[in-house]
Amino acid sequence: MISKRVEKISPSGIREFFDLVLGMPEVISLGVGEPDFVSPWRIREKAITALEEGMTSYTSNQGLFVLRRDISTHLKKKYSLEYSPEDEILITAGVSEGFDLAIRAIVEPKDKVIVVSPYYVAYPALVEVCSGEVLYLITKEEDSFKIDPKHLNKLLDQNPKAIIFNYPSNPTGVTYTPKELKEIWLLISKKDTIVISDEIYDELTYEGKHHPFASLDQKAKDRTIFLNGFSKGYAMTGFRVGYVCANARIIAAMNKIHSFSALCTPIISQIAAVEALRAQRELMQMKNEYKRRRDFIVKELNRIGLHTVIPKGAFYCFPSLKKFKIKAMDFAKKLLYDQKVAVVPGTAFGKEYDSYVRISYANSLDNLKTAIARMEELLNQIC
Ligand SMILES: Cc1ncc(COP(=O)(O)O)c(C=O)c1O
Repeated sequence: MISKRVEKISPSGIREFFDLVLGMPEVISLGVGEPDFVSPWRIREKAITALEEGMTSYTSNQGLFVLRRDISTHLKKKYSLEYSPEDEILITAGVSEGFDLAIRAIVEPKDKVIVVSPYYVAYPALVEVCSGEVLYLITKEEDSFKIDPKHLNKLLDQNPKAIIFNYPSNPTGVTYTPKELKEIWLLISKKDTIVISDEIYDELTYEGKHHPFASLDQKAKDRTIFLNGFSKGYAMTGFRVGYVCANARIIAAMNKIHSFSALCTPIISQIAAVEALRAQRELMQMKNEYKRRRDFIVKELNRIGLHTVIPKGAFYCFPSLKKFKIKAMDFAKKLLYDQKVAVVPGTAFGKEYDSYVRISYANSLDNLKTAIARMEELLNQIC
């Protein structure tokens, strides 16, 4: 009954593990990639008012013009990045839909697509749905989980249709400086490869500024599909609203699919997103709190022997278990069953990462303190 393409896809490693967590309410979960804040009140209030006023219709397929216009203004102000609200921005049901549309719009069967690893779980799965062939670009702890230009160059020799990466990264929190991005672009620009850059955590950059890939130069902008959204920075996961910026041909192709599959993003979510762009003070408050937690958890993980590359953004860290010679799944299960703390085994983000776990610090400082104490107890037993 089911197509071979879909049968082949393995379920999300995160889901698989979290099926175990279900029904264990006493567990401190550092597993889910979701803000622990509710959406700021002014955003919720706008959505409530819009509903009261009877805003319950479809919008244009591309999304409300006012939202596209405000996104365009926001990107120009923040990054000096210019996208026309007329035909270079598409509003989607989260970055998830934006990514799906991007892949479906450009990938032909057997096309090669580079996925930088450790990766966000959706990337290889959706490339495979389109019968594309995934080329994994493995990054290593000794390179701070950053792309090794030599390795990238080797994979580019296979003339891939696209390369997909995400920064600040889920699951490592790693991000790139303009110099590093330029070095990557110099190599990609020699080919026809399209860049799909998922920058959903851009607002959660703790050191220095975020630099969108598309802001490198005009050629990079023309070749980049820039994905972003409101789920993480603005704590709006349930609203399901994201956006894609790209050249008009790509946006038109993506919108063609979107108009038949989703039709449009829910109007209430779009109205809420317009308000979100004005909620910069609330955004800063949440960001400062994540930073406080990051500083705490990184220091503590290193203290208890779980070496952690300092995450510069997002709300994850990716500590190493190598010192304890235990596999990620065994560690995660022991931590869950013996200590009631949930983390995600690194293998959910690439099979090479069986000596790592992903820890989300989108949780209260009190819970993080308890979780660290329980991890330390488990590690003392393992030693
Ligand atoms: C890197 C990355 N991209 C996309 C998504 C999905 O985001 P959205 O809620 O906008 O669909 C996530 C969610 O965890 C993510 O971590």
